Amino acid sequence: MKFEQASPPNPIDQERVVTRPFTRIEGPLKVSGQAPYAYEYQLPEAPTYGFVLGAGIAHGRVTRLDTTQAEAAPGVLLVLTHENMPAQARSDTPVPQQREASPQLSGPEIRHYHQAVAFVVAETFEQARAAANLIEVEYEVTPGQFTLADTVDSGKEPKDAVDSVVGDFDSAFADAAVSVDLTFTTPDQSQAPMEPHATIAQWDGDQLTVHTSHQVVHWVRRGLALTLNIPQKDVRVVAAYVGGGFGTKLLFFSDAVLSAAAARMLGRPVKTTLQRPLIFNNTSHRSATIQRVRLGADPDGTLHAVGHDTWTGNLPGGDSEPACEQTKYLYGGEHRQIRTRQSELDLPPGASMRAPGEAVGMLALEGAMDELAEKLGLDPVELRLRNDVQFDPEKGPKRPFSSRRLAAALRTGAKAFGWDDRPRAPRERQDGEWYVGYGVASAFRTNLVMPSGATVRLNPGGTLTVETQMTDIGTGSYTVLGQVAAEMLGLDLHQVEVKLGDSDFPASSGSGGSWGANSSSAGVYAACDELRRDLAQKAGYQNASAVFRGGKVWQGAECTELSELAGKEGVEATARMTYGDLTEQFMQASFGAHFVEVGVNAHTGEVRVRRALSVVAAGRILNPVTARSQCLGGMTMGIGSALMEALHVDHDLGLFVNHDLGEYHVPVHADIPDLDVLFLDELDDQSSPLRAKGVGELGISGVGAAVANAVYNASGVRVRDFPITLDKIL
Ligand code: MOS
Repeated sequence: MKFEQASPPNPIDQERVVTRPFTRIEGPLKVSGQAPYAYEYQLPEAPTYGFVLGAGIAHGRVTRLDTTQAEAAPGVLLVLTHENMPAQARSDTPVPQQREASPQLSGPEIRHYHQAVAFVVAETFEQARAAANLIEVEYEVTPGQFTLADTVDSGKEPKDAVDSVVGDFDSAFADAAVSVDLTFTTPDQSQAPMEPHATIAQWDGDQLTVHTSHQVVHWVRRGLALTLNIPQKDVRVVAAYVGGGFGTKLLFFSDAVLSAAAARMLGRPVKTTLQRPLIFNNTSHRSATIQRVRLGADPDGTLHAVGHDTWTGNLPGGDSEPACEQTKYLYGGEHRQIRTRQSELDLPPGASMRAPGEAVGMLALEGAMDELAEKLGLDPVELRLRNDVQFDPEKGPKRPFSSRRLAAALRTGAKAFGWDDRPRAPRERQDGEWYVGYGVASAFRTNLVMPSGATVRLNPGGTLTVETQMTDIGTGSYTVLGQVAAEMLGLDLHQVEVKLGDSDFPASSGSGGSWGANSSSAGVYAACDELRRDLAQKAGYQNASAVFRGGKVWQGAECTELSELAGKEGVEATARMTYGDLTEQFMQASFGAHFVEVGVNAHTGEVRVRRALSVVAAGRILNPVTARSQCLGGMTMGIGSALMEALHVDHDLGLFVNHDLGEYHVPVHADIPDLDVLFLDELDDQSSPLRAKGVGELGISGVGAAVANAVYNASGVRVRDFPITLDKIL
């Protein structure tokens, strides 16, 4: 089914089940420990345990590997190294690729610290770990490049972020009445999901089944099949429950590939989890950025020159951190220059993490807007309102936004937060030993839509089953998809069973880039639309006038029970939603506004967030409970990125030094005060039949800048080198 702009009547518009605040339907299974995560599946056969040994150098090659002692250790079944790893596909890049081959132990070359150099399988986890410690590895170290700042001159224009230049930026910037030219830096960051990367692999003849922790089932299925040189049809992937992904589980790593290879060799299931200290350097992270933002405006604040340059680095073949992205779309201005330069670094692979791009790009753009407002003597809310634009500023009015309520979000937030009561100058307000400051930033996140499919089955008895590969990474997919199906078929939520995360089901958008709820529910919508057609026909009614309500299908005063139409066999429909070129015609993004109040300790420089409000305009909010949770999580991450999160690079050895949750700081409850979220009414006719948009990552995109701006308003110190730790304030 191709989505054509909202063809009425749209059954979703009843909002009888969708938009209602249901708590998550799988919640009881989770809190009672009955929802099995990847490592927890119980197999009929006793599993064996894999343990990954990571390289002790960042760049060079293995010159000697001695596994004799490990192989003789108690319980050891297999030791894999590059010398005995079965044949795999080759890859041109050391960076794991979505949906592509991602070989492990493929040679003696070491491309990054903690790259797998050996894999031990034993009867117990402890035996595997003990044996791994007996492996002797010698290396030849070659010099690597581990410092982004030293590489900016060698950066190249990346394929995934080409220059975007409109008008004559240099002249407009030089001629601007008021301008800012500011450089921001953001550190490497780790996705650090609570559930580690983990896999159980088992073979039945040529058939491989993997339980693994991943965000997009058909991507890992394809990637594993390509890596192992086997047909995709021979691979089944199950990821029914996923304990957070944050982007790193868009990729698959050593646990999946090595468990699968070893299980085939041993003829027994192998289960492997990456131990926490390995995850930080063995898997992916968000690359550090250096960003220069230049803005030039009239004295009234109207922008004419908008410039954003980002420098970032990665291993060859890796993506860039798209930190410039929002600057293309957020504000007007006829002269624009957006450029990214990417250099080669020998740190672990950089990849998607929690709102790739905007999460760190907004720290720079929205910090620069705050400094520009100060120079202009303008309210920072007013500066943003004056530069609001209803079309893609690069393409002009021929490419309007599908919906854009930035101005309403700023105005609503300012009122609700009490923005008028803000301190007008730094150190103006004190509460005991704390300087108090307010900060604001816009929220922006591109709305991505992805094709997604589902099967829906009306069961004998009249209940409904939904099956799709869609994952629930803690976001509420089970609940939202159940709501959409219930709405479409005129059932109550408890009459719908939702089954997710299995490659035997129709391929889905999966979870990523905030496209999950909107795209996967559009797939369920398509399947339900098909099923409604079949059921109306079975009942002898016209499809256009059939109404599904109360477990019956109605035509006028006539009705037929769904259970009767289901018969003994049930009725099933499968469909997939696609979008054609709709996202080309319309620029699509979710918008909002973040307001933050902080206290900065006058003696120690400690920053405490005192309260925060995010106003969110993200199309129809399918479930205000799960959507609010997503926003609260995003705000928490945004506060973390502003104040805490940083991987610390050892610039000599080429590794991230802090590699556990004790030393990689993320906010805890005591760091986060009461947060508030307001949803604005919005229906987006161009985004999907749900009229929803992405919401998850909007919460993180901008809030960190609001924190930084509030820190300045409190203390008078501008910190452009994130995170804002107290040493930078004093
Ligand atoms: Mo998101 S970083 O695309 O999981």
